[in-house]
Amino acid sequence: MLRATRTALVAATTAALAVTALVLPAASAASGSTATAGSTGASGDTRAAATPAKDPAARTLGELGRRAGVRIGTAVDMSALAADAPYREKAATEFSSVTPENVMKWEAVEAVRGTHTWGPADDLVDFARDNHQLVRGHTLVWHSQLPGWLTSGSFTPGELRDILHRHITDEVKHFKGRIWQWDVVNEAFNDDGTLRDSIWLRNLGPGYIADAFHWAHEADPEAELYINDYNIEGVNPKSTALLALVTELKAQHVPIDGVGVQGHLAVQYPAPHDIADNLARFDALGLDTAITEADVRMVMPADATKTEAQAEGYGVLLQGCLLTEHCTDFTVWGFTDKYSWVPNTFSGEGSANLLTEDYRPKPAYTALRQDLTLAGRH
Ligand code: XIL
Repeated sequence: MLRATRTALVAATTAALAVTALVLPAASAASGSTATAGSTGASGDTRAAATPAKDPAARTLGELGRRAGVRIGTAVDMSALAADAPYREKAATEFSSVTPENVMKWEAVEAVRGTHTWGPADDLVDFARDNHQLVRGHTLVWHSQLPGWLTSGSFTPGELRDILHRHITDEVKHFKGRIWQWDVVNEAFNDDGTLRDSIWLRNLGPGYIADAFHWAHEADPEAELYINDYNIEGVNPKSTALLALVTELKAQHVPIDGVGVQGHLAVQYPAPHDIADNLARFDALGLDTAITEADVRMVMPADATKTEAQAEGYGVLLQGCLLTEHCTDFTVWGFTDKYSWVPNTFSGEGSANLLTEDYRPKPAYTALRQDLTLAGRH
């Protein structure tokens, strides 16, 4: 629906990114090798300032992504952002969009019924604005990380429908005009393609998905609205069931703009080499797509073979996006192993991110840079 038009939000930060890109080559020449700075200065040749940086490493993922026509984002851990200066510096400079890892989830924004806690999420939105980044809102309707008052309360289906409507309206209105893309519905499917048994399906029936999109659209007509899930990278029963659902939603004029493919991979499973074929199916429907939560974990300890396989996994995801005309963004689920959700969730696994715990780049980081650099050559 919004695919043909660019929102004011996007236009504003795109302009900011363009300015940054014009400024950066000059800045990096000034602080770069003596040869570059010296020759520019001695000859008085000002052309260097207008020439793209010779050293591609001077560019960030976000800048390389801009040249390739894709936003590069990261999930942000708000405790790390507050406490860890190197983390904050990388989050601010390396990426052109951000996603709150937890602070927009229902349990975080309404732990007590009727009392909203927007502070941490507002802080991230402000951080993004200060750094010319867009924000992916995550997430409105999910079976997980719900407040206790909701899961342990006894509500009739009618009451639950009102509660969900109210939640979506409150949250989307609070951030109105400041969110680029909302993950409206998260993880609605089982791997076999049936709808997941959740408080929402059980009480409201499958129509809760269309309702959620309508309610979100009413609260912020400019935000792009996504359905998001995992294990839908390749062509499989789950992604095919999702395709059938979004086909139906489009036919019913439900305001859905895109499909988010989480991209939580593990090196011990085959990488989804058919991802571009899969994304093409959604592209053909007129939907945008995005990789929303990329990470590639491994059974610990890490070794060189696993670390190379990890680079391949990240590359397969990014290339799938770059090969898809309306794949708009590629977001990693954190950028350093220091704060990864993986060890807490997958026993014995870890090392899933682009940078080590002490912020050293892994081959995966180099692989993404290379893919973006190649895609940006035109
Ligand atoms: C995870 C966070 O990373 C953890 O910090 C939290 O404890 C649990 O949720 N799919 C999603 C994300 O859509 O919201 C999840 O994030 C990871 C899986």
